Amino acid sequence: MINSSIVKHRKVFLTGGAGALGSHLLKAMKEFEVLAPDIEKLNIGNKEDVHLYFARNNFDAIIHCAAAARLGECDRNPIVAIESNIIGTANLVIETIHKEQQIGNSIRFIHISTDGVYSGIRGQYSEDDATIPYTKYGWTKLGAETNIRLLTDFCIIRTRFFDPENIKFSESATDIYTSKIPIGELVEAILYLLESSFTGVINIGGKRISDFAMNRIYKPEIKPCLAEDILNEVSFKLHRDVSMDVSLWEKMKINEL
Ligand SMILES: NC(=O)c1ccc[n+]([C@@H]2O[C@H](COP(=O)([O-])OP(=O)(O)OC[C@H]3O[C@@H](n4cnc5c(N)ncnc54)[C@H](OP(=O)(O)O)[C@@H]3O)[C@@H](O)[C@H]2O)c1
Repeated sequence: MINSSIVKHRKVFLTGGAGALGSHLLKAMKEFEVLAPDIEKLNIGNKEDVHLYFARNNFDAIIHCAAAARLGECDRNPIVAIESNIIGTANLVIETIHKEQQIGNSIRFIHISTDGVYSGIRGQYSEDDATIPYTKYGWTKLGAETNIRLLTDFCIIRTRFFDPENIKFSESATDIYTSKIPIGELVEAILYLLESSFTGVINIGGKRISDFAMNRIYKPEIKPCLAEDILNEVSFKLHRDVSMDVSLWEKMKINEL
């Protein structure tokens, strides 16, 4: 989808580059110069380290994928989720504002958020709907969004994705609905939005679909089950329908074509 001849942001600071989404993005960003320190080189929860990293490096855009992203872990240890998702994001936002003041230009900031900021009950949530997360992870991601909104040139992407080549479950629920998309589609959307002038919040996903129906496309041997079967296995609260209204994104894609 992205046309390299219109790439404006050549030097990109990518957080979370060692993670599932970040590593797919890195592979797709051959046209760019990408700075992608792993957590050993830069823990975004450490204010002083983030300050030094910004002082020593220059870039014209940021894609922020780093997060404590495992729901069970965030539920068991919310402090880690607060440090990475809320404080870590705040540290990046503060340094971005400082750097923008120094260079006299805005820095494009793409933030990866989650459909988990919605309440996950009725589904088809639009960007303007109330955000009442159903997990501690979701609350920390909403806390992150609050910081991002203080920037000038930002795009908050609310999404859910999966790797079609790595579906681990042997069964999935016929009564849990999302708008999740294959990771490759999300990578294309992120790179499109990196170069777009859109600022604000956007839902990125596909049509409302049950987990079972989606997983069966890529793993035909997967077995159907019900949400209540899974509830006993996980330690965190499950949504029933966290599908999103993705019409804004659909319109943007049509205009692009
Ligand atoms: N997976 C989904 O379906 C989904 C849905 C919606 C939104 N998201 C969001 O998408 C983004 C990427 O998710 P993902 O599935 O790729 O997660 P992931 O595989 O766990 O990757 C996250 C990366 O961030 C790093 N990280 C965590 N805390 C950090 C810190 N304090 N400083 C620096 N790096 C840190 C992790 O390092 P370690 O592994 O060493 O901790 C990891 O490399 C996250 O923001 C997540 O909230 C994910």
